[in-house]
Amino acid sequence: MRLILLGPPGAGKGTQASGIVEKFHVPHISTGDIFRKNIKEGTELGNKAKEYMDQGLLVPDELVVAIVEDRLQQDDCKNGFLLDGFPRTVKQAEELDKVLVKMNVSLNKVINVDVDKSVLVERAVGRRVCKTCGATFHVKFNPPKEDGVCDKCGKELHQRADDTEETVSKRIQVYLNETQPLINYYKDQEVLATINGQQEINKVFEDIVAALGEK
Ligand code: AP5
Ligand code: MG
Ligand code: ZN
Repeated sequence: MRLILLGPPGAGKGTQASGIVEKFHVPHISTGDIFRKNIKEGTELGNKAKEYMDQGLLVPDELVVAIVEDRLQQDDCKNGFLLDGFPRTVKQAEELDKVLVKMNVSLNKVINVDVDKSVLVERAVGRRVCKTCGATFHVKFNPPKEDGVCDKCGKELHQRADDTEETVSKRIQVYLNETQPLINYYKDQEVLATINGQQEINKVFEDIVAALGEK
């Protein structure tokens, strides 16, 4: 299964990705996670990406495309992959198409997680993430059993640096200008499935599975 998760910041892409990769046994490729890992490790890529991420801006296309192209060549992508947060511009989508042609494969579905802009800030600002295992929670919508502690691995939960109200608002604006056009791009390719992301997390997942033609 070769999939893309599309949607605004806070739509629930990462949350749904964890269920999808478990069910379909494909690697989860989140460009945001790749950048955060590089920032944590203090690599050159991390330092470059941080400048943009802290402002809620997109990292330049050339940088992102090279990373994804390289990642898709790895062995674990032979039977499929789940891209989360990539592509995010028409240029990135065009470059991805070229990579897929070279690999002689095509996309099964682009899942567009549709959420009203009015709930996105609250979702992002209340998000808590585990830097150890990657699990995501929400103080109100998906609280951990114990405040500030990861249910899965018991480590401390953190707030993402770009999850302030101001930066989230900027990210939403950038999404509307740069990323939303991809909805029509993939509609034209007849691979788009739009899912109502404003339901219970499990119901969103059920709808995604149904859209993929699975039970
Ligand atoms: P990235 O990490 O991809 O962030 P994003 O796209 O802004 O999306 P988020 O991770 O914020 O949201 P999500 O949809 O994953 O939501 P989640 O499941 O966590 O990118 C960060 C930055 O990196 C970018 O700004 C950019 O600078 C750079 N970057 C990354 N990719 C790039 C690219 N391709 N090109 C250029 N730059 C790039 O859920 C959010 C919260 O809501 C959680 O707390 C969750 O528990 C809760 N929640 C989830 N589902 C529900 C539900 N159904 N009901 C209620 N609450 C819910
Ligand atoms: Mg995410
Ligand atoms: Zn954890």
